[in-house]
Amino acid sequence: MTVNSVTNPSPNPVRGGACPVCETPIGHHGALCSSCRRPLPAIDAGPVLEVSDLEHTYGSGPTAVHALRGMSLRVQPGEVVLVVGPSGGGKTTALLSMGLLLTPSSGTVNHSGVETRAMTERQRSRQRLLGIGFVFQQFNLLEALTALENVTLPLRYAGVRTAPATARATRLLDDLGLAHRATSRPRELSGGEKQRVAVARALALAPRLILADEPTANLDSASGHQVAEHLVRAARHQRSGVVVVTHDTRLADAADRVLLLEDGRLRESSPSDPAGTRR
Ligand SMILES: Nc1ncnc2c1ncn2[C@@H]1O[C@H](COP(=O)(O)OP(=O)(O)O)[C@@H](O)[C@H]1O
Ligand SMILES: [Mg+2]
Ligand SMILES: [Zn+2]
Repeated sequence: MTVNSVTNPSPNPVRGGACPVCETPIGHHGALCSSCRRPLPAIDAGPVLEVSDLEHTYGSGPTAVHALRGMSLRVQPGEVVLVVGPSGGGKTTALLSMGLLLTPSSGTVNHSGVETRAMTERQRSRQRLLGIGFVFQQFNLLEALTALENVTLPLRYAGVRTAPATARATRLLDDLGLAHRATSRPRELSGGEKQRVAVARALALAPRLILADEPTANLDSASGHQVAEHLVRAARHQRSGVVVVTHDTRLADAADRVLLLEDGRLRESSPSDPAGTRR
């Protein structure tokens, strides 16, 4: 790991032929990085995410709730999509479906061209670990671990060696302005700092897809914007596609596209009216 690789990263580490985690040049994809042992993605082309005709119903009979009623979405590498909408509109249900944490009643979810419905539970958890970075409203950091250890954890789960895992986590915390917080535990951090640690953790394995559910809901306006900016910049740099679901329409500036999810249906939202509400 050279200092130069931190200050002068290649614009597209994966396609540039370098391991996205340790930045060592690699000859081919489909196996383990010979340097840090991160499993390398076999596929690196086409949309990161393709969701078609997603429908989901909770319960049945007269109390059934139709949370999603035919939702379709395509996300390209490096693209940042913001999905806004009122509470109860289906945002969390949509995000859980895209993240393979919930199997929708019908419709398809493709990750990098791979249909996920036929996956075994083992394949799904592997895809969640290596292919998706999650950011939740409640941060979901492990209280007993330091910021650095929280970010290192997914790398270690994925089999990345200790030294390159620590180097990667250190570099991400540094990029997110948290170098001085590396040895702090979550209770010693502000909400904005905790969420930046969670962003670093989501980015750690350089997943192709990053999913965030109300990432700024527990933050004040200034730190909310800072978290969103960091997430977007880092995701673009490593060419991850990003879907952020939120009712916080102030994040619209950071996105390439803003969509409105209401009554389980997704539609384009005009830029001048991101919340779909007339003033
Ligand atoms: N586990 C559940 N069981 C029953 N209904 C649910 C469940 N989760 C969500 N819902 C309902 O589905 C609808 C969509 O919820 P959700 O996806 O959480 O929307 P949002 O995240 O936009 O607030 C709401 O009417 C909600 O009450
Ligand atoms: Mg929600
Ligand atoms: Zn590597």
